[in-house]
Amino acid sequence: MTTMSPDDWDARYAATGNVWSITPNEFVVEFLRDLPAGKVIDLAGGEGRNALWLAARGWQAEVADFSQVALDKFIARAAAEGLGEQCFATLADATHPTEYKLAPADLGLIAYLQIDPAGLSDAIVSLTAALAPGATLFGVWHERENLTRGFGGPQVPEMLPTMDELTAACERAGLRIRTLEVRERHFENAGVSRVGIDVVLLAERE
Ligand SMILES: C[S@@+](CC[C@H](N)C(=O)[O-])C[C@H]1O[C@@H](n2cnc3c(N)ncnc32)[C@H](O)[C@@H]1O
Repeated sequence: MTTMSPDDWDARYAATGNVWSITPNEFVVEFLRDLPAGKVIDLAGGEGRNALWLAARGWQAEVADFSQVALDKFIARAAAEGLGEQCFATLADATHPTEYKLAPADLGLIAYLQIDPAGLSDAIVSLTAALAPGATLFGVWHERENLTRGFGGPQVPEMLPTMDELTAACERAGLRIRTLEVRERHFENAGVSRVGIDVVLLAERE
């Protein structure tokens, strides 16, 4: 299986201004825009596009990632946008238990952490442990079907979770699933219209 190390990610983040769009993911907006502001932990949050969108809406936002370069970019953008006092960075491997700064949080967020199923299950367990009872966990990933009918993302099946794998991870973590569905995402890449096949999870800590 092809996996990227923290050094690989650091190099990718250091190579260009923004690796990802600076706007939040469309499903993050759709599912989370009506939540009252509180404390959010964005696991594998990268440059923090989703955390920064929440911070601008009044949230205290912690991005955890194993790329220090990504975290530095997140903190620099937070400062530039006047959100520095609400934003926190934690260098951590998502698959290991971690003492998050904002635990117990009201919201846990995971966007496109494409790793092997056992590692992803460990990450969901670790993030859930940092949530308050009744808190929300939201996740979005390239789904397995993206390999055959979607554009972009890893081309390794094991790194694209299925609904069954996510259901099992939620059970192990103690999460009640509210929504688990495959969704299409339409976007432009180099001037060409593309579709991505994502899986979206909304769950609640028991
Ligand atoms: C595709 S990017 C998504 C970034 C961000 N969530 C977003 O949607 O813009 C995946 C991120 O996961 C991070 N990552 C991958 N494996 C990780 C791990 N085991 N622990 C922590 N971060 C990890 C990478 O450094 C990268 O920032």
